[in-house]
Amino acid sequence: MLKFFITTFGCQMNIYDSELMAGILHEQGFQQVFEPKDAGLIIINTCSVRKHAEERAFANLWDLYHLTPKTAKKPIFCVAGCTAKKMGEEIFRKYPFVDLVVSPANIYGLPKLVNTFKKTRQKQLAIKNQASYIKKNFPVIHANKIKALVTIMQGCNNYCAYCMVPYVRGAEISRPLKNIVAEVRGLVKKGYREVTLLGQNVNSYHDGKNDFTDLLKKISSLPGLLRVRFMTNHPKDMSGTLIKAIGKLDKVCGHVHLPLQSGSDRILKAMNRGYTAAHFLQLVRKLRQAKQDIAITTDIIVGFPGETKKDFQKTLSLVKQAKFDAAFVFKYSPRPGTTAAELADDVSAAEKQQRLEKINQAQQDIARKLSQSLIGQQVEVLVEDLATDGKNLFGKTAGYRTVIIDASVAPNQRPATSDQQLSLYIGQLIPVKIITAKNWTLYGKSAINRLHRSNTISSK
Ligand code: SAH
Ligand code: SF4
Ligand code: F3S
Repeated sequence: MLKFFITTFGCQMNIYDSELMAGILHEQGFQQVFEPKDAGLIIINTCSVRKHAEERAFANLWDLYHLTPKTAKKPIFCVAGCTAKKMGEEIFRKYPFVDLVVSPANIYGLPKLVNTFKKTRQKQLAIKNQASYIKKNFPVIHANKIKALVTIMQGCNNYCAYCMVPYVRGAEISRPLKNIVAEVRGLVKKGYREVTLLGQNVNSYHDGKNDFTDLLKKISSLPGLLRVRFMTNHPKDMSGTLIKAIGKLDKVCGHVHLPLQSGSDRILKAMNRGYTAAHFLQLVRKLRQAKQDIAITTDIIVGFPGETKKDFQKTLSLVKQAKFDAAFVFKYSPRPGTTAAELADDVSAAEKQQRLEKINQAQQDIARKLSQSLIGQQVEVLVEDLATDGKNLFGKTAGYRTVIIDASVAPNQRPATSDQQLSLYIGQLIPVKIITAKNWTLYGKSAINRLHRSNTISSK
C-alpha cells in the first residue's frame, strides 16, 4: 500500500485542497503518514501569493528531498497547488527529482497520475484548467474533529493588480448548493459542529440559482451544526442583504474577514479593488450595527507601487478609525504576470518594513484594548480540545478569539473535573467568564462542574 505525506503552504483553500487530496488518495487505498521518511509519495502543496511563500515551499521541497532515500527507494515527489500551475514544466527542470506537477484543478486525477508514473517512470504534468471538477463529490479528510473547512467555490475574476490568484486558480466557479449542503450534512453526522465556507470571494458565490445569502441561510438551518463561518469577503460585493442575514442568523458567527488592502483611494484604484475608503468604513459601520460584538479582521498591503507617505498615512489612519480586531499586514511582493508587476516596485524594502511595523504597532494597541474590554464579560465558546496542559480546555469565541478555559471550580467547591469528564465538553458551546486577556488570547473560567450536574450545556 502506498503511503503518502502532504505538507501545505498558503491559504485555507490550499489546506482544504490538501485535505481533499488526502481523501481522494485514501479512497484509492493509499495511506496518509505524518513522517516524510515513511512515505512513498511526498506532496508539497504550494502557494504563489508572495515571493516569500514560493521560496519557503521550495526550501521545504529540498529539505524533504535531503531527508529521504536517493536509491531505488526514493519516494515519488509531487509539487501541487498554485505554484504548480504557475511554473508548470519549469519545476521538472529546476528540481529534477520531482516526478509529478499537479495544479489545483487537477487534484482529482492524482491517483491516476501516481499509478501512471509508477508504471512508466515518465514525469506527469497536469496543469490544464478544468472547471468541471467543482461539481464532483469531495471525499475530504479533515484534520480537526470539531470544525471543518468547506470550499464553496474556486478561482477569482477580480484581477486585483497585485494578485496571482486569478492566474493560478482560474475563473470563478461555484459548487452547486446541494453538493455543499450534502457535504455539511455528512460532516454533522460525523460529529462536526462548525464549518467555514471558503472562497476567494464568497460574496459573489452563485450556483446559477442561489447566491451566498441563500447558501448561508440553508447551511444555518441544518440541525446539529452549531456555528457557521465564511471567508474571504470582498468589500465591493458585500451587499446589504448579506449584512442583514449575518446579523439575523444566530449560527453565523460574528466574525467577518474584510480585506482593506489600502486606505488611500488612489492606491485602491491602482489596485483595481473597486471601492473607496469611505465605502469600506461604511461597511464596517453597517456590520457593527447588524451584529453586536462582531469581530472584523482585515488584510493590508504596504508599499504597493507608487504608495507615498501620504497614501500610507491614510491607511494607518483608517486602521485606527476602523478598530479592527486583527490585521494581517503584507509587504508588497511583485508577482510576474500581474498588472502591478509592470509598475516600478518603488518603495524600498526598508520603507516597506517600517510601514508594516507602524501598522502592526497601532493594531496591537487596538487589539489589546478590544480583548481587554471583554474582561468580566460572559462569552460563548465552542470547545475544541483539552488545552496542552491537559487540565484546561480551549476553544474559540464567535469572533474567533482563542480562549483558554480554566475548568476547575472555586477552591471551596468540589475538586476539579477529571480529564475524562472534561473531554465531554469538546464540541459543545459553553458560557465562559473572561478573567484576563492578551492581544488575541483570552483566559476565562467556566463553571463546568455546575453545568455538568445540571446538564444545561447550550446546544442551539
Ligand atoms: N481573496 C482574498 C485574499 C487572497 S490572498 C481577497 O480578495 O481578499 C491573501 C492576501 O494576500 C490578500 O488579501 C493580500 O493582502 C495579500 N496579497 C496578495 N497578493 C499580494 C502581493 N503580490 N504582495 C503582497 N501581498 C499580497
Ligand atoms: Fe486576489 Fe483580488 Fe481575487 Fe482576492 S479578490 S483573490 S486579492 S484577485
Ligand atoms: Fe496562495 Fe493559492 Fe491560496 S496563491 S493564497 S494558496 S489561492
